[in-house]
Amino acid sequence: MRFFKAAVLGLVGLVSQQTLASPTPVDKRQTQTVSDLTIFSPPSNAGWVDPRVLYARAIQITGGALLATWENYSPEPPLVYFPIFRSTNNGQTWTEIGRVRDTVNNWGLRYQPMLYELPQAIGNYPAGTILLAGNSIPTDLSKTKIDVYASRDGGATWTFTSSVAAGGEARPNNGLTPVWEPFLAVYNNQLVCYYADQRDPKYGQKLSHQVTSNLISWGPVVNDVVDDNNYESRPGMPTIASLPNGQFIFAYEICGGSGGCRVNYRLTRDPLNVNAAGPNIPLVSTRGTAPVSSPFVVWTPIGGTNGTIVLSGGSPSNIFVNRALGHPSAWVEYAVPQPNAYSRGLAVFKSNPGWLAIIGGGWLPPSSVNRVSVSVVNLAQLIGA
Ligand SMILES: *[C@@H]1O[C@H](CO)[C@@H](O)[C@H](O)[C@H]1NC(C)=O
Repeated sequence: MRFFKAAVLGLVGLVSQQTLASPTPVDKRQTQTVSDLTIFSPPSNAGWVDPRVLYARAIQITGGALLATWENYSPEPPLVYFPIFRSTNNGQTWTEIGRVRDTVNNWGLRYQPMLYELPQAIGNYPAGTILLAGNSIPTDLSKTKIDVYASRDGGATWTFTSSVAAGGEARPNNGLTPVWEPFLAVYNNQLVCYYADQRDPKYGQKLSHQVTSNLISWGPVVNDVVDDNNYESRPGMPTIASLPNGQFIFAYEICGGSGGCRVNYRLTRDPLNVNAAGPNIPLVSTRGTAPVSSPFVVWTPIGGTNGTIVLSGGSPSNIFVNRALGHPSAWVEYAVPQPNAYSRGLAVFKSNPGWLAIIGGGWLPPSSVNRVSVSVVNLAQLIGA
């Protein structure tokens, strides 16, 4: 089928959005949470392609609006694009406000979108610019290219900025050379793009990053996670968040072994040298659960001096919470109303760091029922912070 476990490869994320965002007062008006609310469900008889939607992402931008996007399998032509939906009432209702279209390849914007608000200027792009990194792939899946688009009007209109990495056929088979799953973060006045990378013949897949200081040109490919002992190993889907002790948590899956694509992580002081921060730490909860596939990690300052790390995996649907700066024996599971999905997205509210949006778009093909839905969880209440 179309991607198998491709998305499982995952990307990386460095500095999480909350790292550099200036704190804003708690919004006392936020009294309601949202439970598995459908944002978008494609019409059933209009030629939508299996799996309809997938791989949803959300952020809260400055000013308080939530933005959401996802892989959108609309009938072609016209070429597929990433929709931008907005909520101005903390997730209770959503409206489409824009579409991010491929304006440089004539391939479409097909897989693995990632939304990010610049916390500071990068080149000519001021703080508050919304970025979308995604995988531009032609209809026949013959190529992959991680391109970055920018919006200066809160997500309504978009322009191409630059391309990070280009690779081969968009299938997750070892020996092919695609790139996958970008994750953006600012660190030391540079924008970092982490991604999964099959172009290095030494590894079935590895995790890489590149940096830019101007959103025009990107530096060399730097390894983040590689397995020198096992070509079949496929570290993927990188995400990253900064912690208050000067460390970063870098979370990813490792496919190609037994037990599915187990979620692993590393703790490092240098998000540009994750490679030196091994070995991999397999995430296991205090109940003995080892989450599988497509991690997404965030940090929020609630919950005491350590703050709280929250990680979502593909399964189970429970979130994994760590209030001890990533200590391996401190992962506690909590049930949430959001169903599990292939690569759910997490977003801590900037306006209220006790609130967490969890967004999902269903599962890999075959699926005739995928829809995009969101939950807004009162995390502070959930964990008793
Ligand atoms: C904060 O993290 C440290 C390091 O893991 C741990 O020893 C400490 O107990 C944590 N504090 C709280 C309040 O959980």
